[in-house]
Amino acid sequence: MRHRRKLAAGNWKMNGTADDLGEVTALAEAHPDPGCQIVICPPATLLSRMAEAVEGGPVEVGGQDCHPAASGAHTGDVSAAMLADAGAAWVILGHSERRADHGETNDTVRDKCRAAWDAGLIAIVCVGETLEQREAQNTLDIISGQLAGSVPDGATGHNLVVAYEPVWAIGTGKIPTMDQIGEVHDAIRARLERRFGEGVGRSVRLLYGGSVKPGNAAEIFAVSNVDGALVGGASLKAADFGGIVAALGGD
Ligand code: PGA
Repeated sequence: MRHRRKLAAGNWKMNGTADDLGEVTALAEAHPDPGCQIVICPPATLLSRMAEAVEGGPVEVGGQDCHPAASGAHTGDVSAAMLADAGAAWVILGHSERRADHGETNDTVRDKCRAAWDAGLIAIVCVGETLEQREAQNTLDIISGQLAGSVPDGATGHNLVVAYEPVWAIGTGKIPTMDQIGEVHDAIRARLERRFGEGVGRSVRLLYGGSVKPGNAAEIFAVSNVDGALVGGASLKAADFGGIVAALGGD
């Protein structure tokens, strides 16, 4: 079953105001018929305006996090249903910056993932090792533990995407070797197949994330079991992200 549609996902992190919406409309205009799916995850404050700006075009929008509860006394938090209400179809969960800055554990991420699914969102669950963990040759154990702990039962190729993001490659300009990326993606695929069965395991898309740029995208996308990218810095400008979309979609 090799029907995994390629996916270019952009994570704007804590960047972007109304002035930046033009980047997304420019992206949509430059790639009216991309050979891949395109998702941009802006800050929550921009979600509904971005969703309106891209409506009817090739770009979908997503959140960068959600609370595990559906509603309640959680000052400053945003629920999955609120993201959906604002026009999101996707949400990034368990990004290493959330794990590090907000103490998110695998259990937290799993609860958030359930909440996302309850709201009808597709979850992009992030896993990745630190430099210390890689140097101690613990990468595959760390990734396996994060995957087992962060992904709830009930995953399918329609509700889950997994992003492999080595912490040391995020925003640093450093990337693993293509062999290292392939080793981790193959391991993630094998673990998903073992847990969820071959059909589901083979249908979940696996993204690489960490310093993906137009200049290195084609090489990364040629690696086995890489179905696309989760892109931070290079997703902020239409020209940069467009280069990645083109490398992925062959347009
Ligand atoms: P980067 O970020 O592309 O700026 O390295 C990737 C991410 O954090 O998803």
